Amino acid sequence: MSIPVAIVGASGYTGAELLRLLSAHPTARVTRVFARRSAGARVEDVFPQFRGALSMPIEAFDADAAAGAAEIAFTALPHGDSAEAVAALRERGVVVIDLSADFRLRDAEVYARWYGGEERAPHPAPALLGEAVYGLPERYRDDIAGAGIVAGPGCYPTAAVLAVAPLLEAGLVEPDVVIDAKSGASGAGRSPSQATHLPEAGEGVRPYKIAGGHRHTPEIVQEMGLAAGRAAKVLFTPHLLPMSRGLLACVYARPTPGTAENQAVFEDALAAAYAHEPFVTALSGGACPDTAHVRGSNRAHVSVRYDEASGRVLAMCALDNLVKGASGQAVQCMNLMCGAEETAGLAGAGFFP
Ligand SMILES: NC(=O)c1ccc[n+]([C@@H]2O[C@H](COP(=O)([O-])OP(=O)(O)OC[C@H]3O[C@@H](n4cnc5c(N)ncnc54)[C@H](OP(=O)(O)O)[C@@H]3O)[C@@H](O)[C@H]2O)c1
Repeated sequence: MSIPVAIVGASGYTGAELLRLLSAHPTARVTRVFARRSAGARVEDVFPQFRGALSMPIEAFDADAAAGAAEIAFTALPHGDSAEAVAALRERGVVVIDLSADFRLRDAEVYARWYGGEERAPHPAPALLGEAVYGLPERYRDDIAGAGIVAGPGCYPTAAVLAVAPLLEAGLVEPDVVIDAKSGASGAGRSPSQATHLPEAGEGVRPYKIAGGHRHTPEIVQEMGLAAGRAAKVLFTPHLLPMSRGLLACVYARPTPGTAENQAVFEDALAAAYAHEPFVTALSGGACPDTAHVRGSNRAHVSVRYDEASGRVLAMCALDNLVKGASGQAVQCMNLMCGAEETAGLAGAGFFP
């Protein structure tokens, strides 16, 4: 039996990745796709990579049309717009997997502070926050299966949390971390900007939105605090890399007092946490993950190294921001929600080289 799905925001980068994954999915069937400026065009005209593979019209978003054609909708819109679409879809009984930040933060006031602009506009659909489950299957698998709204995690939070949450949860490191993370430019979406323009971004690497300036900070604080069972402090420094996709997070933490400080303790905790996870591989011996090894796949490679000289733990994660950091993870959640194999349509390795 096939599962009819709709995509709202199909002309963006995460929308394209959803189309790529879902058009090859064994049980999902994309019935209608929506966008704003691209409405009226066809998928294969907006994205020539689909020529010969997929052909369908892109329509202006219409919640009734989506509800009439799909049991599950993916919303891949800018924050704010997404919440409105999600509310309209939920009213019509559609289960939604939202890729925006609109349902990731549990506290509506924290949302207003980070996403509400200068005037701290309130959350557009606060009544729905209680329905939302954070869409990181490695931490919330059972809740995702029965959710009405799944909030797809941010790409940086996915990597940082996968790297260190098992150590926080086991009480091996303090919830006071420094995150140095780097992402390819597709993380900023398809709309052109000076910051991601090739002549300006193509030959250099730079940090941006430093010292609590990046909107993924409260999400990371929330999820690390939940893993540790107490409030987390996070210094997060994102960097823009001159490549199109891929994300690497290095998380620095101090062992909690009393922890036996040796490599095996930290490595065993990571290995145990991910031993049965289909998409997260804990590398042994403190080996370094590489974005080139997960490009195009729903896989995350994690690793940990204890540095005796500094007394610090370095936890690392590489993933593809558009797959495990967004659309692949959303499809993984869809699989859980429909009782399909969790790996359906996602089992392949990445592109290499
Ligand atoms: N890029 C990533 O790595 C990544 C990772 C995780 C999460 N996310 C989140 O996922 C969401 C989508 O990201 P993206 O990178 O795919 O963005 P994008 O490339 O800028 O695409 C945005 C999409 O939303 C559509 N859209 C905008 N306003 C709309 C409206 N009012 N009604 C209907 N469609 C509308 C656009 O359609 P038109 O262009 O046709 O107007 C386009 O299809 C964002 O919230 C982002 O934060 C992105």
